[in-house]
Amino acid sequence: MAAKIIDGKAISASVKEQVKAEIERDGLDIGLAVVIVGDDPASRVYVNNKKKACELCGIKSYEYALPAETSEEQLLELVDTLNADGKVNGILVQLPLPEHINEKKVIERISPKKDVDAFHETNVGRIMIGNFAFLPCTPAGCMELIHSTGVEVSGKNCVVIGRSNIVGKPMAMLLLHENGTVTVCHSKTKNLSEVCRSADILVAAVGRANFVTADMVKDGAVVIDVGINRLENGKLCGDVKFDEVSEKAGFITPVPGGVGPMTIAMLMRNTVTAWRIQHEE
Ligand code: GUN
Repeated sequence: MAAKIIDGKAISASVKEQVKAEIERDGLDIGLAVVIVGDDPASRVYVNNKKKACELCGIKSYEYALPAETSEEQLLELVDTLNADGKVNGILVQLPLPEHINEKKVIERISPKKDVDAFHETNVGRIMIGNFAFLPCTPAGCMELIHSTGVEVSGKNCVVIGRSNIVGKPMAMLLLHENGTVTVCHSKTKNLSEVCRSADILVAAVGRANFVTADMVKDGAVVIDVGINRLENGKLCGDVKFDEVSEKAGFITPVPGGVGPMTIAMLMRNTVTAWRIQHEE
């Protein structure tokens, strides 16, 4: 049977509407600083989309577009200035940064209370123990998409392919928090297809076009595709071979229009959370 398509665009629109309504209801004056260094075209598209979402939700966005030659010291100084700026509730430094800048050092310089990506060690650690304020945007968006299916995570076999700090590892934690039985696969995993076939919920965050094929998917599974791969013909494509997997899965996210828009919606939600944390007694 053909899978139900999980409409990330519609779900993200509804999250953004909720955020907008909350901001209007409480009359909040919220600001997000978005920092981009260099002119990576994909990063430029993401940053523009983040700014558009801010506008829609009623969040002020402050863009800092710095040249690729910006030194690490200059970027750290900007982060210090933004940390001290009361108008700025969230700070997002778009990754990747140019090679001469140490990403880790920059992330660690962002105040954990303004770290709307939840990349700072403090926030990563808090996710591990389940005492978190922010969740990283992409895994949080994936969880929303899974919830939208009505499929309970508790007790299910959940397989995450990919172990990055931004997606795979936190995704595994969030599934575990909801009592999933979680397996994390990576390039050294043996019998990958077999492991994936055991999944009731399969999350693909590999970064390789069409990596997950129908023979790796259990009948009726929930398949979440985090991949955004650009093919030679310019088309976007996920990590999942959509045409064949959608004939076998129970639910599947498309690319584009699945996880991508959710990441941005969760960023908006995190920015409101940041404001609240900064205004707590
Ligand atoms: N680059 C790719 N994804 C992300 C993200 O979620 N946040 C930031 N800051 N940079 C990214």
